[in-house]
Amino acid sequence: MDAAAADPRAKPVSLDNLLNLAASDMAGVDSLIRDRMQSPVSVIPALAEHLIGGSAKRLRPLLTVAAARLAGSTDDHCRKLAAAVEFIHTATLLHDDVVDSSELRRGKVAAHLIWGAPSSVLVGDFLFARAFELMVETGSMAALEILARASRVIAEGEVLQLTRAHDLDLDEAVYLQIIKAKTAELFAAAAEAGGVGAGASPDQCRGLRRFGQELGLAFQLVDDALDYSGASDTLGKNPGDDFREGKATLPLILAIKRTGAQERTFWMRTVDAREQTEADFERARTLVQDSGALEVTLETAAGYAESAKAALSVFPASDWRAALEDLADFAVARRS
Ligand code: IPE
Ligand code: IPE
Ligand code: MG
Ligand code: MG
Repeated sequence: MDAAAADPRAKPVSLDNLLNLAASDMAGVDSLIRDRMQSPVSVIPALAEHLIGGSAKRLRPLLTVAAARLAGSTDDHCRKLAAAVEFIHTATLLHDDVVDSSELRRGKVAAHLIWGAPSSVLVGDFLFARAFELMVETGSMAALEILARASRVIAEGEVLQLTRAHDLDLDEAVYLQIIKAKTAELFAAAAEAGGVGAGASPDQCRGLRRFGQELGLAFQLVDDALDYSGASDTLGKNPGDDFREGKATLPLILAIKRTGAQERTFWMRTVDAREQTEADFERARTLVQDSGALEVTLETAAGYAESAKAALSVFPASDWRAALEDLADFAVARRS
């Protein structure tokens, strides 16, 4: 096998086709977001603008729009659903950065460090509420149900992760359960809601949901690899946050397993006993990289991306389907 074939991220991946196809929809989504983040309570638009104006990829609303168009939608309902999906995502980021004590988000100082944790949490609640108003406006009870359930499942995933932090014995099954809930569920719901809102068949809706779920798993696995291999200027967030918070992500689970008894004292002190110095992340990063844990994590992500693409076979070949396939490849190849 040559080097390019061995590295699932060696293939250049562009989202240009998807971004071109979705350009007018995404401009519509953006103006809905701008409009609905307004409030007479001035700290709300100020804080929201700080986050929403940052380097957001907008992958989830893209997914909703593309799923709806792939399923044959010709009206603009999917834009409201897509804006709602991005609001749910943005709300979880505001809450997540407080929970994770993260200092950088979308290339900017995290909102809680400027406005404080209470404002950040409450503006997160405001954005959640805006999402629900938008969903109600579409009149689709089915889409509302899908996204309401996703909001609940994300919260469950975040709480489960919190209660299992600093746990050296966390296994891959629990890790998978956590990322399925905290990340893959919103990707799944974003795609399914787009299809449901467009009147797709039950079979197609199941295919879209599966596409989103597998894509979301790949996306989070890569995110967890980037936390050990990325740089803050491309990521827009600080690498090392997961290690500092004692999160047993797949790279760490594998590195602990592979470095064995030899490094047990280091992992016990830094992850389990929460005693870390500044230099510890560098050592952890080296151990994770040298153990081959990142390659396995990326190969696992590539496997999910492949099954995501396979789930789209319920649709005939089309430009939208090909563009969604690019999105699955992008989730694996991305560095930001
Ligand atoms: C960040 O998601 C949260 C995770 C699930 C890892 P994104 O990387 O999609 O965040 P933005 O919206 O582009 O900032
Ligand atoms: C991502 O959480 C999922 C949610 C925000 C619900 P993470 O904590 O893993 O993601 P980043 O690294 O902060 O973006
Ligand atoms: Mg976080
Ligand atoms: Mg988190």
